[in-house]
Amino acid sequence: TDLAHIRNFAIVAHIDHGKSTLADRLIQSTNTVSERDMKAQLLDSMDIERERGITIKANTVRIDYVAKDGEHYVLNLIDTPGHVDFAYEVSRSMRAVEGSLLVVDASQGVEAQTLANVYTAIEADHEIVPVLNKVDLPAAEPERVAEQIEDVIGIDASDACLISAKTGVGIPDVLEAIVKRLPPPHSGDRNAPLKAMLVDSWYDSYLGVVVLVRIMDGVLKKGDNIKMMQTGAKYGVDRIGVFRPAMQPVDELGPGEIGFLTGSIKQVRDTKVGDTITHEKKGCEKPLPGFKPSVPVVFCGLFPVDSAEFEDLRDAIEKLALNDASFSFEMETSAALGFGFRCGFLGLLHLEVIRDRIEREYDIDLITTAPSVIYHIFMKDGTKVELHNPADMPDLSKVDHLEEPRIKATILVPDEYLGDVLKLCQDRRGIQEDLTYAGSRAMVVYDLPLNEVVFDFYDRLKSVTKGYASFDYQMTGYREDHLVKMQILVNDEPVDALSTMVHRDRAEMRGRAMCEKLKDLIPRHMFKIPIQAAIGGKVIARETLSALRKDVTAKCYGGDATRKKKLLEKQKAGKKKMRQFGKVEIPQEAFISALKMD
Ligand code: GTP
Repeated sequence: TDLAHIRNFAIVAHIDHGKSTLADRLIQSTNTVSERDMKAQLLDSMDIERERGITIKANTVRIDYVAKDGEHYVLNLIDTPGHVDFAYEVSRSMRAVEGSLLVVDASQGVEAQTLANVYTAIEADHEIVPVLNKVDLPAAEPERVAEQIEDVIGIDASDACLISAKTGVGIPDVLEAIVKRLPPPHSGDRNAPLKAMLVDSWYDSYLGVVVLVRIMDGVLKKGDNIKMMQTGAKYGVDRIGVFRPAMQPVDELGPGEIGFLTGSIKQVRDTKVGDTITHEKKGCEKPLPGFKPSVPVVFCGLFPVDSAEFEDLRDAIEKLALNDASFSFEMETSAALGFGFRCGFLGLLHLEVIRDRIEREYDIDLITTAPSVIYHIFMKDGTKVELHNPADMPDLSKVDHLEEPRIKATILVPDEYLGDVLKLCQDRRGIQEDLTYAGSRAMVVYDLPLNEVVFDFYDRLKSVTKGYASFDYQMTGYREDHLVKMQILVNDEPVDALSTMVHRDRAEMRGRAMCEKLKDLIPRHMFKIPIQAAIGGKVIARETLSALRKDVTAKCYGGDATRKKKLLEKQKAGKKKMRQFGKVEIPQEAFISALKMD
């Protein structure tokens, strides 16, 4: 296909504004798949993605479209992940296309992710077509929302498409707008050396690693020998093709086209998003700009509640890692928790997704230890150590000083919630760098320690702003600060899984809060249980969980045997999710809940 007849685009939207429904409509109305194969939602395939309303794996589809002018066009829609943890992946996929449909629910208006996503599109120099969805709803106010788009985002919304992805109204206008208002690929020379962007990759049990590519220059053919310019890895190409949305082989992929390749690539780890693919011989000289390898920034321990499930956990983790290059793991042993894994993630949501998948798809109950960032420890003997796990904190007498990672956080929030956001950032040791306005929204920039953000910052931000804040961050570097390791002792036994690194000035407050929380989370036993927070052997906070007086079943007056049995069964089931520490049983959810700050 010549460049003039190709349109590559993404759909950007806030959760639930109708991105998937619109994508399905575009596919259906162009007969890309038969009615019979049309499932309710084609693009988001994984259950967890759907439940959490996020898209993890970028999917793509090639649509043939005959426009009103009678010309045949090839439209490539790429699907992008929608969360800050995957911000780099989103920014890369945006670079692989030239335009975006900005979908806004006409009954809701512009929301947090609308902004975050549309700014990524603007940064990638996209042409943007506003699409107001759900006009079938009585509460739809397309005029007001169009005005809001102009005010807040600053793009012209006077000729926005008014559609209902549900009923199909307006879909032909969207297709025409894609062809008429989005630009064709900007450049592309068939005769130049091959230059292709690695947009995404995933593991397929039949084909091995599948790589999604956008060809910039040159031509990719089956049988070609290719080279990844950043990693230096070389492969023979077995297959090339496009998604319709099922895989369809093609003879070649030329400039401007988006498609997939497979080769003898063993693991997704060898295919780095943003890498440049060229031919092994007569390759292009310079790789595409902007590549950065995505490295895990948050670490935590994952342990099976039932130690007999360790091998199952290993199996689950290995399988998940096959398909997720940014997830790392190594074996870990803990005095209290036994055998498990120390895992690295791109961020907290990434952690939660992996944890949920292990629990749900592999049916393994997990204990998750406190998430930690990587600290740089400068020892008195002049050496430098990277600390991934607070449990490994060396003896303080040998430590000279410690540095922690910092981020630059950008938060967009409606004016009425600004006060709460500033307080939250201040509470998390943030330093305000900027405060400006975009329409009725404030944009604040904070320099924050990453360790204050990894735990529940995002949850808190969403809750204090009722979901209206958008948040994005970048790592900026390391800075020295006064951090200490705080241990938690339950019945005088240290529970390593609850150890955290905290700022010295905030240790008492955090310690008190954790002890209070644990007092509520740990069920009462037949004896008194002291719960303490300590720094280097010195207790800084303490709570006491009083002893249980009677057996729970005593309440049942002996008479009702079935009720008694039920109660005992319930206790037993509850126990499955408990873990024994010395004489004390601690429920699984205590490990995460204790760390949340209200
Ligand atoms: P995520 O994949 O979770 O990010 O959401 P999404 O933006 O893809 O939204 P999705 O297409 O899943 O739609 C969200 C909900 O809105 C679904 O229940 C749809 O049926 C509904 N919906 C989508 N378009 C329309 C529309 O035009 N009118 C009405 N009434 N409902 C719609």
